Amino acid sequence: QAFSFDIEAGADLQVATSKESATSLEFTTDGGVPFFNPYVHQQIGSNGPLLLQDVRFVETLAHFVRERIPERVVHAKGAGAHGYFEATNADFVKQYSIMYVFTENGLKTPITIRFSTVGGESGSADSARDPRGFAIKFRTKQGILDIVMNNTPVFFIRDPAKFPHFIHTQKRNPQTHLRDHDLFWDYLGSNPESLYQVMRLFSDLGTPYGFRHMNGWTGHTYRWVKSNGSWVYVKLFAETMQGIKNFTNADATNLQGANPDFATQDLFDSIQNNDYPGWTLYAQVLTPSQAEKFKYNVLDLTKDWGFDDVNKTEIGRFYLTENPTNYFAEIEQAAFSPGRTVPGWEPSTDPVLQARLFSYGDAHRYRLGTNNLQIPVNAPTVPVANFERDGFMTVNGNQGSRPNYHSTLERINTPPIPYIEDTHQQWTGGAVRSLTQVTAIDFDWPKRFWSSLSAQDQQNLISNVVGHLGAAKSQSVKQRQVALFALVDKSLGEAIAKGVNVSVPALPNFPTNVTWLDTTVSSNSSTLNY
Ligand code: HEM
Repeated sequence: QAFSFDIEAGADLQVATSKESATSLEFTTDGGVPFFNPYVHQQIGSNGPLLLQDVRFVETLAHFVRERIPERVVHAKGAGAHGYFEATNADFVKQYSIMYVFTENGLKTPITIRFSTVGGESGSADSARDPRGFAIKFRTKQGILDIVMNNTPVFFIRDPAKFPHFIHTQKRNPQTHLRDHDLFWDYLGSNPESLYQVMRLFSDLGTPYGFRHMNGWTGHTYRWVKSNGSWVYVKLFAETMQGIKNFTNADATNLQGANPDFATQDLFDSIQNNDYPGWTLYAQVLTPSQAEKFKYNVLDLTKDWGFDDVNKTEIGRFYLTENPTNYFAEIEQAAFSPGRTVPGWEPSTDPVLQARLFSYGDAHRYRLGTNNLQIPVNAPTVPVANFERDGFMTVNGNQGSRPNYHSTLERINTPPIPYIEDTHQQWTGGAVRSLTQVTAIDFDWPKRFWSSLSAQDQQNLISNVVGHLGAAKSQSVKQRQVALFALVDKSLGEAIAKGVNVSVPALPNFPTNVTWLDTTVSSNSSTLNY
């Protein structure tokens, strides 16, 4: 099997895994002593008080109330499995990157994938209208690589400071503890750069049929780097081999009651039945000079590159072939971070990505502890030789007797840093400023998306929005959102206005003469007053 739970190489303690002990014995105390019955407790007589000396029972009670760890603040509901990635186009990748995992044809790398919804709690229905997370952990021979994607090429924001605010509008109202449609649409209407993602979400793409029938995108631009320091911008796209399949709003809504764990079950059952889901992984590449001339700012997470604009090239395939033996150990405790990279794969200066580089490690330290990379599902399959020591739950031998500082007393072969410093990225200073302003170009993708939909899909988008926006109480929130839809397409705006019972207001004007290279743009106009 591709996946194994080997304790990190170099550890000198031989620890029996909980898998072994759980299968070879019926019942033991926490100390591993066989015991005849888990149900007994020590008591004086048949009706007297319990005894504190019954340590086994005390431990059982104490561990029980400590079973819960913090759930992920976003993407709390999810499911996952293990499998492998196989590289198929080494020649293509080698032109641009030294990433070993992609540059040897036929090389198989063990992976773990976790799929998720975003807004709901860990027990929420997984057929909710929501983007889906699509996070892959590659256990490469150069260490861990995480590619943390969603099932959409873009996102609601391009300014990371908005993320907690935006997420709060999808969580529960501070007073009522209910989901609040007014807060949700109030945010979206006043931050129109979200519109393309909003339209994808309210098409039937927002309710995929489980996790197997959807695609994945890195969304952000990353960089592929060669050993001489030259680099290109790259985005990855994972295309499902099962074909795209979505629920209608009615089916998804019914399912949320009938089987709130549909997607989790669909994934588990298909792997259990040896029907292994697979995806083809593609790359899109732009050189820095192509990026400068590209019609959209390549650091703008609200803009897709589009396969008509930039060719996609296959670089590999991956399959899920093994269900977790234990969900908590192998999926809940899995920690994915866009900051967990290997040589040849670097972030771009997309500000949202830059914020994510901090936020995930921070979340893992809070949720799982400072030694979260020692948890078997997260641990590299190659030796770790850093100078981080000790801390709660050090379980991997703590790097033995090796000096805990960069010592000259032992020979340490520090691998050379493979890149030279580059300064080219500094041109993006201008780009970042213009990302704060909403301009006419922000309606490009919403228009492209709208005209790519069939008549039926257009109709579904309208009724999905009407059902949700119609539940908002505020007339002005409804009108502001209708105006944005009307800017995409007059008939779309009118149909939604009719459905939510408001008139189409005067449409706002967005500047057309601003390009992403223009550094004179005012930086405080992201929240519009109209
Ligand atoms: C999960 C933060 C944007 C994909 C998370 C978590 C945090 C977070 C704190 C929980 C991590 C954990 O507890 O393990 C942020 C911030 C963002 C952002 C601050 C923007 C400023 C994005 C974007 C994508 C994305 C743009 C996709 C392109 C995911 C996925 C997960 C996740 C797939 C779940 C990973 C798993 O299954 O464990 N995010 N996120 N996020 N995020 Fe983001």
